[in-house]
Amino acid sequence: MYSRIAGTGSYLPEKVLTNHDLEKMFETSDEWIRERTGIGQRHIAAEGQTTVDLGLEAARRAMEAAGVVPEDLDLIVFGTTTPDQIFPNCGTLLQERLGVRNFPAMGVEAACSGFIYALSIADKFIRLGDAKCALVVGAETLSRIVDWTDRSTAILFGDGAGAVVLKPADDPGIISTHLRADGSHKDLLYCPVGPSKGFPVDERGRTPMFIHMAGNEVFKIAVKSLGSIVDETLAANGLDKSAIDWLVPHQANIRIIQATAKKLDIPLERVILTVEEHGNTSAASVPLALDAGVRSGRIKRGELLLLEAFGGGFTWGSALIRY
Ligand code: UT7
Repeated sequence: MYSRIAGTGSYLPEKVLTNHDLEKMFETSDEWIRERTGIGQRHIAAEGQTTVDLGLEAARRAMEAAGVVPEDLDLIVFGTTTPDQIFPNCGTLLQERLGVRNFPAMGVEAACSGFIYALSIADKFIRLGDAKCALVVGAETLSRIVDWTDRSTAILFGDGAGAVVLKPADDPGIISTHLRADGSHKDLLYCPVGPSKGFPVDERGRTPMFIHMAGNEVFKIAVKSLGSIVDETLAANGLDKSAIDWLVPHQANIRIIQATAKKLDIPLERVILTVEEHGNTSAASVPLALDAGVRSGRIKRGELLLLEAFGGGFTWGSALIRY
């Protein structure tokens, strides 16, 4: 038994913050941001709008596309690094919002790889016969943990959500998923506070609940790790890179995406690019791109997709999917 994607959905909050808006906040330029990252704008959740609010919209759209109702669901796996609260987890909060109960609902915290991790977990539930209709969500309100005075990180991140519905199938569907983590890089990309370590106040009187990143080092390791994981994914399935119809990458930086596309010998026309419109939305980034590819009519049933992501931890991973 395999799982297959029965429907996709996504949601971006209304408010848009452009590079020109950022020019008014600190010393930067639209030209620099576009050249170094490919980002033109990002979406920002409204005051009071939470990660689960965004996830709910994406989930509704994915369920509509799949032709399922909340009562059909028997699993929710929700990838996020910016949960509404410490607990209940976002999967369980989403279950309540959908008006259903009595089946497993969990949150998965793997930074930008959160959706790939969540997808891999849901795929295994379906393969084992433990779920028949799984909702997999990646959603973030990263703007809440961005230091808006730090130009090296504030230009990169945005809010959004994406979701897929997985159902069982005799043929794949999800052919394979590949997950990796290496905690020895924990100090290159992180948010330093939490209920266990505490919420200290810094010399400026703020709780530094912010993303810290050594951008250049992260960049190099991201390129290397994503290059290896796409090679491993192809090798594990005895496939040549020419077999891939669409690369659906994590949208952190256009230059990282270009490097992975080059490694796969895939032209940028066969890569789903959304980084310009919403920047890095972490766990929401891959399902947002997938939904953009599907809804624009580019990704068609039967085509072979390679999804990949890389994020804090480091965590990274891939999924090979016959759509
Ligand atoms: O999703 C998780 C994975 N995250 C990533 O993959 C992000 C990986 N990293 C990156 O995307 C890039 O490293 C950045 C876009 C963050 C930075 O680009 P870079 O080419 O690595 O630049 P840099 O950090 O080496 O900085 C180059 C220069 C510096 O000036 P000096 O020291 O050379 O004078 C920075 O101060 O650019 C300066 N700079 C800026 N200038 C204008 C840094 N941020 C900005 C800015 N506007 N916003």
